[in-house]
Amino acid sequence: MSRLTVNLGAQSYDIVIESGCLPSLGDRCAGIGLKGRVALITNPTVAALYGDSVLRSLADAGNSVSVIEIPDGEEYKNAATLNRVYDGLIDAGLDRRSFIVALGGGVVGDMAGFAAATYLRGIPFVQVPTTLLAQVDSSVGGKTGIDHPRGKNLIGAFYQPRLVLIDVETLATLPVREFRAGMAEVVKYGVALDGAFFEYLERNASAILNMERGHLIEVIHGCCRTKARVVELDEREAGLRAVLNYGHTLGHALETLAGYREMVHGEAVAIGMALAARISTALGHCSAAEGARITALLEKFGLILTPPVVEPGRLLDTLSKDKKSRGGTIIFVCNQGIGNHAVEMLSPEQLLALSGLEV
Ligand code: NAD
Ligand code: GLY
Repeated sequence: MSRLTVNLGAQSYDIVIESGCLPSLGDRCAGIGLKGRVALITNPTVAALYGDSVLRSLADAGNSVSVIEIPDGEEYKNAATLNRVYDGLIDAGLDRRSFIVALGGGVVGDMAGFAAATYLRGIPFVQVPTTLLAQVDSSVGGKTGIDHPRGKNLIGAFYQPRLVLIDVETLATLPVREFRAGMAEVVKYGVALDGAFFEYLERNASAILNMERGHLIEVIHGCCRTKARVVELDEREAGLRAVLNYGHTLGHALETLAGYREMVHGEAVAIGMALAARISTALGHCSAAEGARITALLEKFGLILTPPVVEPGRLLDTLSKDKKSRGGTIIFVCNQGIGNHAVEMLSPEQLLALSGLEV
């Protein structure tokens, strides 16, 4: 078992990473004072796999549990679905002493977290992430929200969970494609923040792909430890936290243009990271050999790094709407060697030219 604490004063919480820990959820919640009425928010895919075990654990710990299922898919991460969640919370009679459990990937976690942040002006919630991406990234740090027709994650709140419970056994049922996509976010921490972790990934790629449990726990622990450190220093993304967007600027833009159904998020991030490595090399932040190590590691994890064909004019348009832009200039995160980062202010045109995507 491995345990970390995200130190945020009164909002501090633990991240527990273990094999087979789902049945301990109810007792662990009770241990931090969460007991009574609880809404378990999940989707049909995850409910069919882990719903019973989680429900039983919460009920056995003395809770009265209501289950709220939301449809599976990023396309449902919107205000209409959120309203159905609020209906469910009201129907179940949740009050300020009640709590929410989010069981699923990043879509469920982001939406359930936002519902918790806003229902009755905020009730406690617990993250039980079941995808690799959610276990290494989205369940930690308190970014919650929904998409708007004009952009991804445009509506949201910073709202920290009370506990993150990660059962690595849930990864056994995750489609291989989703596991690989999660590995893109894993590699991100190594490239931009932790060189020793990057080398660990290089040395143990096969064991990780074989889902050896000890390595899975070590991988997730490594990512959560780094993310916790960043969030503790910059919870609301005034500066440092933007480094977690390494690879995301171009990745997001390509994901939007290719269509969310075409690529899953992590696949787009992997392409964005390969392009970020190329741009970092061009700007002198890393050597060609370091750039090649980054792409080689992504490829080792089965990630395809060929960008989709997009029209440069549309890419420019999408980049200029980037959430991380200031007055038309994009705050672009480069890798400084491997394990460090540097920020460049670039116009969308410069970015396009440096990425090589305009040819
Ligand atoms: P997801 O939630 O859509 O899950 C991917 C698929 O896996 C879904 O079909 C889901 O039902 C299924 N699934 C989940 N767990 C499973 C399991 N154990 N076995 C079998 N199938 C399982 O996608 P995701 O990649 O987890 O999350 C993507 C979302 O996360 C995006 O909306 C993105 O914006 C958000 N995100 C948020 C943050 C943050 O800091 N809050 C960070 C990164 C990404
Ligand atoms: N995934 C980016 C962040 O949490 O800031």
